[in-house]
Amino acid sequence: MPAIANPSLLILLHHHHHLRSRRFATALLPQTLLSLLSSSIRAPALRAHSTSSSAQTQPLSTDNARTGRSGSISSPPVQPDIAQKIDINPPKGTRDFPPEDMRLRNWLFNNFKEVSQLYGFEEVDFPVLESEALFIRKAGEEIREQLYCFEDRGNRRVALRPELTPSLARLVIQKGKSVPLPLKWFAVGQCWRYERMTRGRRREHYQWNMDIIGVPDVTAEAELISSIVTFFKRIGITASDVGFKVSSRKVLQEVLRGYSVPDHLFGRVCVIIDKMEKIPIDDIKKELRSAELSEEVIEELLQVLSVKSLEKLEEKLGTVGEALVDLKQLFSLAEKYGYADWIQFDASVVRGIAYYTGIVFEGFDREGKLRAICGGGRYDHLLSTFGGDDIPACGFGFGDAVIVELLKEKGLLPELSPQVENIVCSLDQDLRGAAAAVASILRQKGQSVDLVLENKPLKWVFKRAARINAQRLILVGSAEWQKGMVGVKILTSGEQYEVKVDELE
Ligand code: HAM
Repeated sequence: MPAIANPSLLILLHHHHHLRSRRFATALLPQTLLSLLSSSIRAPALRAHSTSSSAQTQPLSTDNARTGRSGSISSPPVQPDIAQKIDINPPKGTRDFPPEDMRLRNWLFNNFKEVSQLYGFEEVDFPVLESEALFIRKAGEEIREQLYCFEDRGNRRVALRPELTPSLARLVIQKGKSVPLPLKWFAVGQCWRYERMTRGRRREHYQWNMDIIGVPDVTAEAELISSIVTFFKRIGITASDVGFKVSSRKVLQEVLRGYSVPDHLFGRVCVIIDKMEKIPIDDIKKELRSAELSEEVIEELLQVLSVKSLEKLEEKLGTVGEALVDLKQLFSLAEKYGYADWIQFDASVVRGIAYYTGIVFEGFDREGKLRAICGGGRYDHLLSTFGGDDIPACGFGFGDAVIVELLKEKGLLPELSPQVENIVCSLDQDLRGAAAAVASILRQKGQSVDLVLENKPLKWVFKRAARINAQRLILVGSAEWQKGMVGVKILTSGEQYEVKVDELE
């Protein structure tokens, strides 16, 4: 350890050692600022799609003369030039991410990304704002009714994406034959849905997606479920906490084809059936009747949907068609991967998005308190609905909200404190430049530094060091500085010494 040149710094450091372990409350905003911020003004609204008022027929406004622009969206009203009270809350259903929430979000996203990379997936991203047409499907999905859509200033119908899959399909078509298949892509992006707010469901959420494009075999679905299981295990969730309900839409397709129901009704029927847990069975039947299904087909469908084992399904279907072949292969692969205890067959899982064509799955909490944790499946025909050539594809979306609720329930939320390696402080005003030079040297060596930018008493510096979990305090005092030295205190052990600036590591 370097020799102690001047005891004065060390005495100062020692004196304040006891302050380190204390926790300190955050300072309050001055009352005047708080009251200024607390009341709201009217915010301009985006309109969600609704069946009764199609956004196509009702532009938000036509205000060209006033804005002088070619589009039909209006500028916000001009406010008088006096202090405005704003609503300090973010819009309903959306979130701010103050540092403590951002730490959790980064931790979660890092796990998403690291798992994706473990499986050899490459990261992609798309714009949050897309053409509205990308999300307009005819099957009567809830997701369409929840669309945040509007006309931009160039009279284009645009929408905030409610999911990532259509953008991914768009990019795959755009890349065309230039990319070698299969593609294994992942993304973490914000999605917008005008949802009714419940626990774990909000108007914006981040979704982790992994998709495999170009593999027709169930090996792809098996790989995707394996990656989610790996993610769960990493964050401490076990097979007794969550499971996956798995089925195949081909089960329904086989039943419908058996009754000669035309294929174009398939997506719509799936979307209706997906609502079984949300609306009364009589309403489901009514909707199925309006989709031109006979009573006989409806009864048969409802019976098949109650099946909870592959053996029963085989009995019910009478033959081993594609649905059973796929499902059996998936369960056998799950054994090989070692996650068979995480998955179960459940014919009632259909999923609410029209484009799925084969295996579908949903992650659920075994206590049944929360909504689906994640969901996905095979969508072999999405590309052709956008005018591209079909390529077999499957993937999943995993939201950032329900999983946090689950981690809270299980007491598994990680403790994430702010972390900086060094706090650097000068002892008098004249040495601020010297402190900045010390901070720069450390930062060049890759060490993080919180530089104290004002003249503060040492007591304050120790409090701050404790709050940000600094490991080391570096004090720049004039006597030492003249000798090219600084005082160091290792805050975790209390060890203290002086060291030449160029020997700082
Ligand atoms: P999804 O089931 O609509 O599928 O959403 C996937 C997941 O996103 C849900 O299981 C949930 O974790 C989360 N999520 C959805 N809506 C909300 C919301 N309002 N608030 C919080 N979390 C939400 C899809 O979006 C498909 N595109 C997934 C996919 C990718 N399929 C193939 N590839």
